[in-house]
Amino acid sequence: MGLTQLLTPPAVPKKHQTVLVVDFGGQYSQLIVRRVREFNIYSEMVPWQKAAERILADRPDAVILSGGPRSVLEPGAPDLDLSLIAGIPALGICYGHQLMAKNLGGVVETSSDKEYGSRHLTGIEAGSLASTIGVPEVWMSHGDQVRKTPPGFILTASTDTCPVAAFENAAARQYGVQFHPEVSHTPDGRKLLERFLLKHAGLKQDWSSESFIEETVASVQGQVGEGRVLCAVSGGVDSSVMAALLIRALGERAVCVFVDHGLLRKGEAEEVRETFGGHFKANLKAFDEQAAFFAALKGVTHPERKRKIVGEEFVKVFERHASELSDCDFLAQGTLYPDVIESGSSTAAKIKTHHNVGGLPDWMRMKLIEPLRWLFKDEVRAVGRALGLPEEMVEREPFPGPGLAVRITGEVTPERVRIVQDADWIFRTVLREHGLHRQIWQSYAALLDVRSVGVMGDERTYEHPIVLRAVASEDAMTARAVAIPFEVLEHVALRIVNEVRGVNRVFYDLTSKPPATIELE
Ligand code: XMP
Repeated sequence: MGLTQLLTPPAVPKKHQTVLVVDFGGQYSQLIVRRVREFNIYSEMVPWQKAAERILADRPDAVILSGGPRSVLEPGAPDLDLSLIAGIPALGICYGHQLMAKNLGGVVETSSDKEYGSRHLTGIEAGSLASTIGVPEVWMSHGDQVRKTPPGFILTASTDTCPVAAFENAAARQYGVQFHPEVSHTPDGRKLLERFLLKHAGLKQDWSSESFIEETVASVQGQVGEGRVLCAVSGGVDSSVMAALLIRALGERAVCVFVDHGLLRKGEAEEVRETFGGHFKANLKAFDEQAAFFAALKGVTHPERKRKIVGEEFVKVFERHASELSDCDFLAQGTLYPDVIESGSSTAAKIKTHHNVGGLPDWMRMKLIEPLRWLFKDEVRAVGRALGLPEEMVEREPFPGPGLAVRITGEVTPERVRIVQDADWIFRTVLREHGLHRQIWQSYAALLDVRSVGVMGDERTYEHPIVLRAVASEDAMTARAVAIPFEVLEHVALRIVNEVRGVNRVFYDLTSKPPATIELE
């Protein structure tokens, strides 16, 4: 980490209650955290190896033991000393259910009846936690089975191949379910979680955007003291919300820096200036560096070279403006909770260099603060709304750091950027008019570096084509082209060739990722 020092993140001051999700490596563990938070109850995930320490230090208000890929019967399997959570309401799910059974004196066996997929619950005990499952369809994914409930527990549901699909010891407030209430394939799973959290664990719904803002403002003020924080704003959701939060906490001492490289979408640079400089009256330093970026990109056509140049130019901008910024003591970083959870995981093969993880000038190696490190993306958007950011900014799609440079094949010139901006504006306006933007993860227009012949007003044209791309995705790792109705595409194509000078053809990109990527370069 060089000289940069990441301060131990201040746990959000404990004004709210906490549900600790102990992660045994299940594929849905993060989803459990999200589900709990949907009830306005704060939840965090901790790997099982660190759970004991965390429980002793923080005494959570409830604990959920997640699923996991291993068998509780294997030597060295993930484990937790359940005496640590005695007195704390607990729900075991799948592996967690089996761990509860094994560690509390029940019997778990490897079974030849493996259950994967949707199953029907039977023998549901009236009044039990399992009785919240009105539609008795539940999602199963397990090999081992609980054969015998632990002493003090009662059986509350089965399936035809799983004798102990749910059990509970209501007096001890301990519950186990073999199925996954957190996934949407268990239609009444939400009701079960709600009953556990609100009724059995008696939790208060004290976690909201407003309470997050209040607590984070207090914690940032405590951390920064009389210092100043440098916060780079790009126009994207995370940096905008982070800046708005820091402005709320620190006023003028949140130094917002916007580097206008000329490679944003149409109108976005103006919106950043208007929102932060105008609406929030922030201490905004907007550097118009378009000329420098275009000069550096002149004649460059190789995709990786472009990415590298944009990254290097950013560093140079900060170096040029060092004297205006070097009195900042802290650097704000837009880390989100999934990054925190996943940090330390291995990296895949490098396909593209992301410019925003590049080096920083030495003087910028300040202490880091990460005010959004507790939030998922949808929560960041909710906080942005609560802070009064414009809807267009809060709902903005992910956008690559090198901007339109990677949506223009061949050389990047101001004229070619203008073409892409205008075509992109038309495409997104029409998508919005048809309400199609809601199913889209990212959509854009790109310019190709080939020319083809057309005819306009009896004249021969020899111009460039625009490629339209609109993809649906969960996390940008995989993506599929969105099935935009043909008439809508035709309308967009017609508008683009008529309204954007320099374009005589429009294509729609049908490729999924993989094998293509979302961006062209
Ligand atoms: P690809 O094109 O690799 O993109 O399928 C995956 C996601 O990453 C975004 N992207 C970037 N984001 N800096 C970023 O912050 C970058 O340099 C960068 N390059 C691509 C892309 O928009 C998509 O969401």
